[in-house]
Amino acid sequence: SKVIWLSRHGESVYNVEKKIGGDSRLSERGLMYAKKLPQLLKEQGFDETNQMSAWTSTLVRTNETAQYLPFDKILPWRALNELDAGLCDGMTYEEIEEKYPEDFKERDDDKFEYRYKGGESYKDVVLRVEPVMMELERQSNVLIITHQAVLRCIYAYFMNIPQDQSPWVAIPLHTLIKLEVRPYGACKVTLIKANI
Ligand code: F6P
Repeated sequence: SKVIWLSRHGESVYNVEKKIGGDSRLSERGLMYAKKLPQLLKEQGFDETNQMSAWTSTLVRTNETAQYLPFDKILPWRALNELDAGLCDGMTYEEIEEKYPEDFKERDDDKFEYRYKGGESYKDVVLRVEPVMMELERQSNVLIITHQAVLRCIYAYFMNIPQDQSPWVAIPLHTLIKLEVRPYGACKVTLIKANI
């Protein structure tokens, strides 16, 4: 069966500050995850003859997470960038609730359809990652390093979780996800925690 690897980027400076979006660098802990990632893959049977490639977003935090991987190909996709929070980019949830209380409530009521002012909804993200998923059908040995919202949509796709449920899928930080994709039936999932 073919194997697809998924991971969020390591913890970023914005994650620590509880700010959404942005283009910050990894925190010290996040960098530790990036350094540990090659070893986690090795422990799962990856060796350098596997010809793995990594697909990242174009943002700094996913590229920093990929920087120690001994792969030939690292491919950045704009389509893997985090859900665009528009006017709310760079704010904390508390700041959003205070400044845009109606939007905050609206998002709570319908997190899948809610579109940030000047930004995107989960539904928008599902549509824009479609070309990536199409390309993935023709590949194996790919590690996708992306962001929480995007990873929720990709994970839901593989796990046959209804797309409108994707905003609530739990995707922990510092955890490598191994998906063994089978032609029929559900994928086999293994979660490999980095313990850092
Ligand atoms: O906080 C990290 C983050 O990736 C933000 O950049 C993004 O807006 C958010 O998570 C998405 O999660 P939620 O849809 O639950 O707000």
